Amino acid sequence: MASSPVLASQKVMKQPRLLAIANQKGGVGKTTTAINLATALAAIGQRVLLVDLDPQGNASTGLGVRRSVIRSSSYDVLFGDCEVYEAAVATKVPRLSVVPSSIHLSGAEIELVTAQDREYRLRQALRKPMPYDYVILDCPPSLNLLTLNALVAVDSVLVPLQCEFYALEGLSHLTKTVERVRRSFNAGLDIHGVVLTMYDQRNNLTAQVENDVRGHFGDKVYKTVIPRNVRLSEAPSFGLPAIVYDMKSSGSQAYIKLASEIIKREKQYKKQRAAINAA
Ligand SMILES: Nc1ncnc2c1ncn2[C@@H]1O[C@H](COP(=O)(O)OP(=O)(O)O)[C@@H](O)[C@H]1O
Ligand SMILES: [Mg+2]
Repeated sequence: MASSPVLASQKVMKQPRLLAIANQKGGVGKTTTAINLATALAAIGQRVLLVDLDPQGNASTGLGVRRSVIRSSSYDVLFGDCEVYEAAVATKVPRLSVVPSSIHLSGAEIELVTAQDREYRLRQALRKPMPYDYVILDCPPSLNLLTLNALVAVDSVLVPLQCEFYALEGLSHLTKTVERVRRSFNAGLDIHGVVLTMYDQRNNLTAQVENDVRGHFGDKVYKTVIPRNVRLSEAPSFGLPAIVYDMKSSGSQAYIKLASEIIKREKQYKKQRAAINAA
């Protein structure tokens, strides 16, 4: 006998893997990575929710979400006014939904300062069974309370890094923050990996920064690098992930490769967790 739709949907509820895309610097490729990674994961059959935590809302517009369809936002989720799946809006990509951001998020920082459990708001909203395999958080370009909420909520952080002069300093600042969050709020937090973005092979500085970053962070730096590619910057104005806008472009291909590297790493982590739990 076929099960009822309600029972069927209850069956697929699970605690998703929670990943934050974070770097306190703006313009390093966080949103581009969030959108295209989420799309690549959805394309290989994962059910993905992208939560836009940046008041600028680039992940929402980049996925073609129109203001008129927004009922609730990540602001409402943060303040416990709705469940995360109630705020989720379907995108043109099958299996990919997004919780849009809201302009109210720019005031959330101040509102949170006096709120109870201010660091745990997002954790409380996201640590529960949901109809998704992955929830990806696109963070704002600072280490404010919104980013802190994301780091306290997630299992792992993914850091997009542009190969520029002060890249390594910025990265150590972020890793120190992750360390502090781990000590004070979220013992299970780790850095999933660092992805080099806007990579330009012909640039000497790129090679130098890559050497330094790989020297310091070793295997934590993904083998896949994301090249500078104009298709990645054009796609958002069509409300489409680059992977849908032009799948053959070098940028799209790099994100598809990155997604498979991440899945591989995820499988290793799962094995490690199972071994720890069995011990
Ligand atoms: N690999 C890339 N090649 C070319 N342009 C890129 C690439 N990654 C991002 N961009 C562009 O750079 C700008 C900043 O990227 P974005 O992902 O919005 O960064 P962030 O979210 O860190 O602020 C955007 O205009 C984006 O389209
Ligand atoms: Mg962004």
